[in-house]
Amino acid sequence: MRAINVSGLTKRFGRVTAVNRISFYVEEGEVFGLLGPNGAGKTTTINMLATLINPTSGHAEVAGAVIGRDNYKVRKRIGIVFQDPTLDNKLTGRENLHLHAMLYGLKRGIIKERIRKVLKLIELEGKADMLVGNYSGGMKRRLEIARGLMHKPRVLFLDEPTLGLDAQTRRRIWEYIKSLKQEGMLSVILTTHYMEEADYLADRVAIIDNGKIVAIDTPANLKKSLGGDIIQLYIRGSEKSYRGLIHKINDRIKVKKTDLRLARTQTGEDELLITVEGGNDKVPLIISMAEREGVRVVSLDIHTPSLEDVFLHFTGRNIREDGADGYERNREFIKRMRR
Ligand SMILES: Nc1ncnc2c1ncn2[C@@H]1O[C@H](COP(=O)(O)OP(=O)(O)OP(=O)(O)O)[C@@H](O)[C@H]1O
Ligand SMILES: [Mg+2]
Repeated sequence: MRAINVSGLTKRFGRVTAVNRISFYVEEGEVFGLLGPNGAGKTTTINMLATLINPTSGHAEVAGAVIGRDNYKVRKRIGIVFQDPTLDNKLTGRENLHLHAMLYGLKRGIIKERIRKVLKLIELEGKADMLVGNYSGGMKRRLEIARGLMHKPRVLFLDEPTLGLDAQTRRRIWEYIKSLKQEGMLSVILTTHYMEEADYLADRVAIIDNGKIVAIDTPANLKKSLGGDIIQLYIRGSEKSYRGLIHKINDRIKVKKTDLRLARTQTGEDELLITVEGGNDKVPLIISMAEREGVRVVSLDIHTPSLEDVFLHFTGRNIREDGADGYERNREFIKRMRR
């Protein structure tokens, strides 16, 4: 039996279609990632599957129960860590867990032992009796994961489990999530807009954009599906010279794809992405063609496709197009190339 089965699930808020007829499944024991930019519909999807909001239409089964019909059963069988923290700051870590156990009707005799176990998993034994108000962001997040596991759910929902955490804490949380897999038949569905997180943690990933699933597979297959290498050029020139270059490239080399994107860096360079088999061998030819067309190549990079490239491939833009991340990275790498 599958942990989750979703078919044609849709949620509309007035005129906004937050989730648009998505279908997917999650196997038992699988970590499944919902990867998408802000506003893609990730939280809305989680909230429907956790029975916190009703779908507009579609069908979903979670841990063997049908949402909308057996909501009580669903709730008993899932754990959830919300995007926004929901701990009681005026209670200690242990008291927060205890409160949760009571709400879930766990038997008195097993509560202490369960608390000990989950605290151990997330390495918070030493801080269990401290007020949560004094916890760091990472400690709070870990405690929330512990809480989600208290009643031994069959499916655990993690909505942006590492949002806003520093790199080191994020790594630790990744390791806890990985270790959950060894714990038994727990299935995990996590949302993230961090590519590396989905890549590292998820057995399979659904890339979601504007409420729609645009791609779904293992990270390895998604990357492989693009084929070959990606040659990334930062360039300067006229649009006419760019058109000439792209025409020549397509004429002379068997490329899979070219993407031209204007004004990609803060210093004003444009970007040309070329997806091609055996990228290294093609570079000299591309450079000389650029020269002939009057396109100046400011810097160049070759890499095998990442999930970032997969997202770009399916949506035509970067996952964090509006954020500073792209600029920062590009700037970094231009500096690197100039050295
Ligand atoms: N209660 C609501 N009422 C109206 N619109 C909503 C509501 N909840 C979500 N939306 C809209 O639905 C869309 C999807 O939102 P959702 O929170 O699911 O995105 P998300 O992928 O979780 O984004 P983020 O990465 O920022 O958490 C957005 O356009 C959002 O504004
Ligand atoms: Mg969200």
